Amino acid sequence: MRTLILDIRNGGQDIHTAVRQAAEIIKRGGLVAFPTETVYGLGADAFNEEAVRRVYEAKGRPADNPMIVHIARASDIELLTASLTPGFVKLADAFWPGPLTMVVKKRPEVPGACTGGLDTVGVRLPDSEVARELIRLAGTPVAAPSANISGSPSPTKGEHVIRDLDGKVDAIIAGEDCRVGIESTVVDMTGPAPVVLRPGVITAGDIEAALAEDGGLRIQQRDAACEETSAPRSPGMKYRHYAPRAQMLVVEGEREKVKAELERLKALNERLGAKVGLLVFEESDYIKAAHDFYSRLRQLDDEGADLIIAGALPAADGISFAVMNRMMRAAGYNVVRV
Ligand code: TXA
Ligand code: MG
Repeated sequence: MRTLILDIRNGGQDIHTAVRQAAEIIKRGGLVAFPTETVYGLGADAFNEEAVRRVYEAKGRPADNPMIVHIARASDIELLTASLTPGFVKLADAFWPGPLTMVVKKRPEVPGACTGGLDTVGVRLPDSEVARELIRLAGTPVAAPSANISGSPSPTKGEHVIRDLDGKVDAIIAGEDCRVGIESTVVDMTGPAPVVLRPGVITAGDIEAALAEDGGLRIQQRDAACEETSAPRSPGMKYRHYAPRAQMLVVEGEREKVKAELERLKALNERLGAKVGLLVFEESDYIKAAHDFYSRLRQLDDEGADLIIAGALPAADGISFAVMNRMMRAAGYNVVRV
């Protein structure tokens, strides 16, 4: 398949013309990769089952893993669900547009093809202007998983998407680098209290604070390391995810000890002939760690690393918890403690 590359980065194509062209492709049932503030998405008309099925094919994604449906304005939520709770409205007011996905009961019209057969749908109003304009002009909610080949690191730059999906989709909008860098927080709003299914930069604490006046609902959140063993509530969590080509190992413990162990393991593995890449983040800047995480994995792969050794961040809660959730999965839970 020939992929139309719509490059709207500096000096590239006119943004409005490119987005209009891309919206036409979605209207006709095509697949378009586009930037959002979290990671790039691979979008199709959520109400076109055939188009939605092609998204799964292009990504090599298991069809029981539901997709997030993106809308251009909050009022479009009515197209997807008839059961809006006060909690939902509060969170939408507090965090939309932005990196928060809410899982709600779906309307019967929303195809099971895009919800993995579930009777719920994950909805998000993204903060990227390009994303919102694309959805608005397409005139339909846009189902979009991350625009990577299933299992590989999520794409946060136009060139990542081109590398993964050129030849597999109808068009790619290569635009801004993603501001956030990890995927949205997914929160299940269908039960008596919200449950965080996937942590992100909007933390369980942020959600709890926004709902504080609702009688102090306690938010549940899974421990990043427990997800593999307990029954997955969010089907996407059962697959090995976000993985680089290289083998990956996480070292956790007290900061100075971790540093020493990283150097020791690097030297040891290099003596054995391996090319080793270290992945270390500033202790105090978790926003930057989230922003850089996937692009660093891709960069280390590009440099030909056989082994990536990463220093764990303290992951009690907050944004570092969200980064550690990805790091542990990328490493297939290959961890040593020092
Ligand atoms: O930031 C993001 O969320 C990006 C951008 C493109 O919006 N999208 C994204 O989509 O990360 P994806 O498909 O890679 O991840 C969607 C996650 C999966 O873990 C999936 O299982 C969960 O959301 N999810 C979607 N709909 C759900 C539902 N109805 N019930 C439970 N989990 C759901
Ligand atoms: Mg994904």
